[in-house]
Amino acid sequence: MNILFINGPNLNLLGKREPEIYGNESLDQLIAWVTKQINTKENDIHWFQSNSEGKIIDKLHWALDNKMDGIIINPGAYTHYSIAIRDAISSIKIPTVEVHLSDIENREDFRRISVIKDVCIFQITGLGKDGYLRAANLLLDKN
Ligand code: DQA
Repeated sequence: MNILFINGPNLNLLGKREPEIYGNESLDQLIAWVTKQINTKENDIHWFQSNSEGKIIDKLHWALDNKMDGIIINPGAYTHYSIAIRDAISSIKIPTVEVHLSDIENREDFRRISVIKDVCIFQITGLGKDGYLRAANLLLDKN
């Protein structure tokens, strides 16, 4: 299975950024941990991070051209207002799981709104890096 992980703005600062909310591990450590558990010969895992909305949309289009079977996306703050990312997800019709490290339901009110939630097959929040693994297992089981 071809799986693409997308991390949005400020997630490149994991480990340095508000560690009381997002933990002490860097994005590279998270990637290594998740990849190690799902990287079998049958699975091709791709990772992408960008701070830019347009580059995230371009990568979603890339996923269509490159026949990804599933996408796991943590759009960061774009979650709460990017209709353009939502439209890209619904355009490409690839099963997509929304993941958040923190529990967005129990933080500031503006974080409770996800404009991408209903174009995703599932939303996972508040499980830290485990959420990425759960999302991958969901896609793998589905296949
Ligand atoms: C986040 C939650 C968002 O509200 C925030 O803007 C982020 C990270 C999370 O993983 O918990 O950048 O997506």
